[in-house]
Amino acid sequence: MSVLLAPSILSADFAHLADAVAAVERGGADLIHVDVMDGHFVPNITIGPPVVKSLKRVTKLPLDVHLMITDPDKYIGAFADAGASMISVHVEVLPHLHRTIQAIKALGVQAGVVLNPSTPVVAISEVVGDVDFVLVMSVNPGFGGQAFIPRSESKVTEIRALLDSAKNSGRVEIDGGIDMHTVSRVVKAGARMLVAGNAIFGSPDPERATRDLKAAAMAALQA
Ligand code: DX5
Ligand code: ZN
Repeated sequence: MSVLLAPSILSADFAHLADAVAAVERGGADLIHVDVMDGHFVPNITIGPPVVKSLKRVTKLPLDVHLMITDPDKYIGAFADAGASMISVHVEVLPHLHRTIQAIKALGVQAGVVLNPSTPVVAISEVVGDVDFVLVMSVNPGFGGQAFIPRSESKVTEIRALLDSAKNSGRVEIDGGIDMHTVSRVVKAGARMLVAGNAIFGSPDPERATRDLKAAAMAALQA
């Protein structure tokens, strides 16, 4: 299985999103990660469906929409209509997680579940056969540019084993603090989708940063 790189536009210049997306596309990005925050579930506010719709018009890459909001059930339809290829929801806010996963899939969108750093793996054990991917937060969600939490490595490995035990070949995605220092560790732990914001858009040359990070990820896979 290859490793997919998903640059997060959270750290890009919101006045020039089309340019940001074009640069990482040239650099070999596989997905565009879109961080949606509501100021309730996380202490920050970002963007909604209209921006996803506009991004959809300027890129061929699948849009990986990460919902950091308290009531995702209310908005998954709008994000699907806007052009999301993947939608991930936090287990911490969903008492009927199984129903939400089925609702996302019924919209023809890949369904992912996300765990905060303090959420144990067991929280997804009953739905592991239903999901298309699992996203491990390796920082506390809300902001780009935070330091990677080392405990996330073993969590990735544990979730990979859990998916395997359910014969689910879905990918483990990791989000937060991924850069040239942490990339090989997380790939070796089993991550196969890597989100990176600051490491790419905080760099003077996002195209090159994308290419370098992808090459490092692929090298770790082969090592
Ligand atoms: C954090 C977001 C991340 C963020 C990652 O709440 O979910 O996707 O953009 O940013 P970096 O790569 O800078 O840690
Ligand atoms: Zn994210």
